[in-house]
Amino acid sequence: VGDGDDADASVLEECAGAAVSALPSNPKLFLRRYLGTWVLETWVPGIVAIQRGFAPRRGDVVLASPPKCGTTWLKALAFATMARGAHPPAGDPGHPLLRANPHDCVPFMERLFAAGLGSKVMDALPSPRLMATHMHHSILPASIAENPDCKIVYICRDPKDMLISMWHFSRRIRPDLAFSDLFEAACEGSCLSGPIWDHVLGYWNASKASPERVLFLRYEEMLRDPVGNVVKLSQFLGRPFSPAEAEAGVAMDVVRLCSFQKLKDLEVNRADSGSSPLGGVIREGAFVNSSYFRRGEAGDWANHMTPEMARRLDAAMEERLRGSGFSF
Ligand code: A3P
Repeated sequence: VGDGDDADASVLEECAGAAVSALPSNPKLFLRRYLGTWVLETWVPGIVAIQRGFAPRRGDVVLASPPKCGTTWLKALAFATMARGAHPPAGDPGHPLLRANPHDCVPFMERLFAAGLGSKVMDALPSPRLMATHMHHSILPASIAENPDCKIVYICRDPKDMLISMWHFSRRIRPDLAFSDLFEAACEGSCLSGPIWDHVLGYWNASKASPERVLFLRYEEMLRDPVGNVVKLSQFLGRPFSPAEAEAGVAMDVVRLCSFQKLKDLEVNRADSGSSPLGGVIREGAFVNSSYFRRGEAGDWANHMTPEMARRLDAAMEERLRGSGFSF
């Protein structure tokens, strides 16, 4: 434990108890509103610690997303792309993604910093570091948002599918959670990572202003053209596939390694418990590896939502996104 951990610890102490409990809340969903964004209560100290104490390193890559929008997939794809020198995506039986869940390959910042391990774990990562966050762009520290040496890859998804995915995921630990509670909160802007329109707009606008620093991806587009998106990702990360790699189909190898079915069927991802050596500290919490792989499709919302609900959520999104140049 070094100085960085002491600093993390003092921030956590400061945030503990009174300060967090004074924030507006959505008790049904265990959320607090922090600087206009709805986050899990337990993440607030982590976010404050990131804002105050994140020490950037040249080449850092932050994977940003609202929850349940393809974070696991993006973690796997970015990790496989960045690590392909040491670990070829095909023909390496020791590839980390064959042995560990993607969430154990790329740490989740809010949780890590909330546990007081931000500096310790992040300092130990080799450069270029990959890390993930669900924070809105508006609350990222300048050390990430305005840092020319730090890149951000964002992924979002049709909010209707995101909500259905979130409901299934949450019910694993809260079987009594009513979909209507989640739905109403989303329409009002107060679901996890809400307002969703602000989450998307923050990164959309940042990607328009600084396309060399913020790459904006969409889950549905990735499903339609995974190889094209991996090529785009590799170029953005400054690791384009060489002509020899292109000839050998390495981008396709990355896509295959990270495909929904491939990852879902791995022994490690069928496990009943998390495999993290840090006991769930670097990922989202008490979720087992298999819970990150459900259907992996677009449009499942139609099996769960009435057309009227879909229209309402679409309209809420459209109203807020109007004029931005972005639409779902
Ligand atoms: P569904 O619940 O709709 O199936 P996150 O990773 O942000 O938690 O998002 C989870 C969603 O991504 C889930 O959606 C999950 O099934 C899907 N997913 C996980 N791994 C995937 C992969 N390799 N390819 C495509 N989708 C994937």
